[in-house]
Amino acid sequence: MKQASARAHSNIALIKYWGKRDARLNLPAVGSISITLADLYTDTTVSFDDTLAADQARIGGAEVDPGRLSGFLDIVRETAGTNVPARIVSENNFPTGAGLASSASGFAALALAATRAAGLEMSPRALSILARRGSGSAARSLFGGLVEMHRGQDEDGLDAFAEPILAQNAWPLEVVVAITDNASKKVNSTIGMSDLDARSDFYDGWLAHAEDDLSSMREAIKARDFATVGALSEMSCLKLHGLMLSTRPGLIYWNAATVSAMHAVREMRASGLDVYFTIDAGPQVKALCAPGQGQAVAAELAQVPGVLETRLTALGPDAAVL
Ligand code: DP6
Repeated sequence: MKQASARAHSNIALIKYWGKRDARLNLPAVGSISITLADLYTDTTVSFDDTLAADQARIGGAEVDPGRLSGFLDIVRETAGTNVPARIVSENNFPTGAGLASSASGFAALALAATRAAGLEMSPRALSILARRGSGSAARSLFGGLVEMHRGQDEDGLDAFAEPILAQNAWPLEVVVAITDNASKKVNSTIGMSDLDARSDFYDGWLAHAEDDLSSMREAIKARDFATVGALSEMSCLKLHGLMLSTRPGLIYWNAATVSAMHAVREMRASGLDVYFTIDAGPQVKALCAPGQGQAVAAELAQVPGVLETRLTALGPDAAVL
């Protein structure tokens, strides 16, 4: 039996990925820029075991159908030249499938653990390309700090990988996650962003401005210009949700508390706190805070009706073998 374990941290996109240029290879239609979170992570152990009849998976203590994970392991097995089944055991230290990027940390941890268990030594870039096959956002979770995912042009996807923009300790931003619902989301990202060409009249506009948004964000990050980073993040989030709302059938990921928390963030800003919101394919609100402001923001968000829990986190590190 060959076994390895890895930890990967969740990430939150500031400039969002939504839409695919190739569904089979999971190539994104747009690049994205994200922030890796210290306190939200997945630990995964993969054991290739020739006494198993088929792959098995246990997530958060429950046996699950290994379907999507098996498909991913097949890529690793093909690369390693083996067909031995594996057991996957994975734990998130946060709610799974509720818009907290569990597929990002999950597939990044799986890519690292599975390749190591299979005896493969891959570069961070090769791991990022591999993790992308599991989930687009997972390509970013190989890296700590602030990270950019490249859309790429090539048909084989070898230029669609993530790489760091700023290291974990280069800019001590903070993020407050306000949890408004612990249930799994109704429409997962993969389904929500499928066939957007046919399903949304807003998709062309989304694609047309993606490169400009990315380059503005890249510059603002390099200049440590928090107000611009924050404003671009809120804009990309609202644009994403405009696209989601425009999709047939319309995707409404927000609940009442999500909207209350968005207003609360804007009120905090009006009263002098440096904070901006972002939201993914779920009802949780993530507040991006300038260094040192996270605690005050968390205390305010905890008072918002419908906010069940808040978590304050710093920027996280690269994924690592345990
Ligand atoms: C809204 O990476 O979960 O969080 O590639 O189909 O697995 P798949 O999608 P996924 O989508 C993430 C969408 C998002 C924005 C983002 O993280 O960039």
